[in-house]
Amino acid sequence: MKIGIIGSGDIGGNLGKHWAKAGHSVLFSSRHPNNLKSLVIEAGENARAVSVSEVFEANADVYLLAVPFKAIDEIAELYAGEYDGKIIIDATNPYPERDGVVAQKVRAANYNASEYTAMKFGTAKTVKAFNTIYAEHLKKRAFSNTDKITIPFAAQDQQSREKGEQLIEDIGFDSLYIGDLSASHIMDPNQALYGKSLDKNELEALVNATKVH
Ligand SMILES: NC(=O)c1ccc[n+]([C@@H]2O[C@H](COP(=O)([O-])OP(=O)(O)OC[C@H]3O[C@@H](n4cnc5c(N)ncnc54)[C@H](OP(=O)(O)O)[C@@H]3O)[C@@H](O)[C@H]2O)c1
Repeated sequence: MKIGIIGSGDIGGNLGKHWAKAGHSVLFSSRHPNNLKSLVIEAGENARAVSVSEVFEANADVYLLAVPFKAIDEIAELYAGEYDGKIIIDATNPYPERDGVVAQKVRAANYNASEYTAMKFGTAKTVKAFNTIYAEHLKKRAFSNTDKITIPFAAQDQQSREKGEQLIEDIGFDSLYIGDLSASHIMDPNQALYGKSLDKNELEALVNATKVH
């Protein structure tokens, strides 16, 4: 697949390296793409660096959103013509202390963070994934045969569900489908699955425990 990385920091940089290693074609983007030279060298021959507008023009199959939450509105608006029918994997989290009013609004709202992203990127299909894992675990525990971490994910439709699952498993994690985006509140900050690096049985038990009331 051709994967466009929006925000090539701790999360986007590591995920892009893993996907390049798995054989996908990776376009890292930045507002300063010249600063991504060492990342591209580390990622190898399947990766290159481009600007944010170039990554949207590149017609990728899937986009990873790994920017501060407060950047979502601007990116969704600026590139509104470019992501129609695409899959957006949303790894963001709203943090009021970093993201300000928009994060406060989403934390207080009766919708969850992935539904906010899906609302903003209305013509794309959103998958929520990789927002619950620590960057350090994402970096070090991909492609592991023992002690595998299971990545929970939620998806807006069947096609985005399949692509999300494949992109999790291609880099050596297990995946656990939580449900559609309305189910992803348990993945949000301070909720049951947040920050949990667990195997599949443990994660399933935790998800089931959220349903017993
Ligand atoms: N760190 C973690 O452990 C962790 C875990 C799970 C999820 N998350 C979530 O994942 C997201 C990214 O976190 P991170 O730790 O990877 O952050 P990070 O290291 O700061 O990287 C974010 C990148 O976003 C880019 N960016 C910022 N504003 C932008 C804008 N307006 N337009 C385009 N690009 C912009 C920046 O790239 P340029 O300056 O080069 O453009 C920056 O490198 C956040 O929402 C975070 O809450 C983080």
